[in-house]
Amino acid sequence: MDAPSLTLEYTDSAPGVFHAAPSCALSLSDRIANYQAHSGFPGSLFIGEDGRMVGTWVMGNDYRVKSTYYGGYPPTYLRRIKALFPDKIQCLHLFSGRVDRSVFPGATVDSNPATQPDYLDDAHRLENVPVEDFDLVLADPPYSVEDCDHYQCTMVKRNVVMDALGKRLKPGAHVVWLDQVLPMYRKTDFRAEGYIGMVKSTNHRFRVITIFCKQNQLRTGKTAAIKN
Ligand SMILES: C[S@@+](CC[C@H](N)C(=O)[O-])C[C@H]1O[C@@H](n2cnc3c(N)ncnc32)[C@H](O)[C@@H]1O
Repeated sequence: MDAPSLTLEYTDSAPGVFHAAPSCALSLSDRIANYQAHSGFPGSLFIGEDGRMVGTWVMGNDYRVKSTYYGGYPPTYLRRIKALFPDKIQCLHLFSGRVDRSVFPGATVDSNPATQPDYLDDAHRLENVPVEDFDLVLADPPYSVEDCDHYQCTMVKRNVVMDALGKRLKPGAHVVWLDQVLPMYRKTDFRAEGYIGMVKSTNHRFRVITIFCKQNQLRTGKTAAIKN
């Protein structure tokens, strides 16, 4: 399947008030079909009976990270994600490290100046980042205190980052969150559309990719971030 030609359309008659659902959304089946046609990897993604995308990626034992950055994406990760999201126009690499933008172009956000991000910012606040402009966020936070020691950062409060994204992303935007934990999020902000287990090789950690889709619902009152 060729990448469809799509335009992002939504109306915003008052700040923060969204009406029409985005017209660009590919179905999850379309995404899986595109993945199978273009990624070059075996089919391992399905639609579960609850309507979610589920599956497993076996990444193999090639664990060289081209950039040599600690915790960098495994070699084929971005190619696989790209095949799942052919319709996305503006990607934000959050916790970007030294992500390989030749594989997946996009703007970068990191709190470590040594990584020379486009936006030197804290993911909990994203004050300098035009979050509204992006239709895809690829997030790869440190997973543990031990990881944070490597980056000399404090442990990420996942719910706060999801909240910062949920406040400002357009309906229909996706967040692809790679982690060992399912981050807390507001159901009024996001629908968890998919879970893909990621296996590397022996003695490497299992990870899970959670695919969130930004919802149309407005925030009303104080709704706490929920555990799903
Ligand atoms: C797992 S690494 C990302 C690696 C990246 N996927 C790659 O391929 O190079 C996590 C990154 O999150 C950054 N980071 C940690 N806490 C952060 C925060 N609060 N805001 C923004 N970036 C943060 C670290 O500096 C580190 O570069």
